[in-house]
Amino acid sequence: MKVAIGSDHGGFALKEVVLAYLTELGHDIHDVGCFVNESVDYPGFADLVCEQVVKGDADKGILICGTGIGMSMAANKHAGIRAALCSEQYTARMSREHNDANILCMGERVTGPGVAEEIVRTWLSTPFEGGRHQRRIQMFSTL
Ligand code: RB5
Repeated sequence: MKVAIGSDHGGFALKEVVLAYLTELGHDIHDVGCFVNESVDYPGFADLVCEQVVKGDADKGILICGTGIGMSMAANKHAGIRAALCSEQYTARMSREHNDANILCMGERVTGPGVAEEIVRTWLSTPFEGGRHQRRIQMFSTL
């Protein structure tokens, strides 16, 4: 799967962990940054990842900041993006089954590396259920 990933400085260390894990799983990864642990503004990185997903250059996106909150807020401003902030496996699974989330957000200051890997594995491998959930998504979608 083609996965775009981005973070700010608050999510940089966890992004490195997730990148290594995605590589191990054999995904085709596009890292949009940040590339050094210096203070940066998270909305720019959210935009870069969302643009890749909306254009179809990536199948899914992963965004990481300190809490995951800013990234999810910025990502959900994009038409066609359904970003889910997850801190455990259950919501990661449900965000795919019921919400067809196309961006996963996590917070490095909230979620440890082991749980983050579990979330990523579940989120990338869980299909959307469609049916009544498709109708509900269409009710709030702009694309
Ligand atoms: C950066 O300090 C922090 O505000 C950012 O990573 C994120 O948590 C914002 O929601």
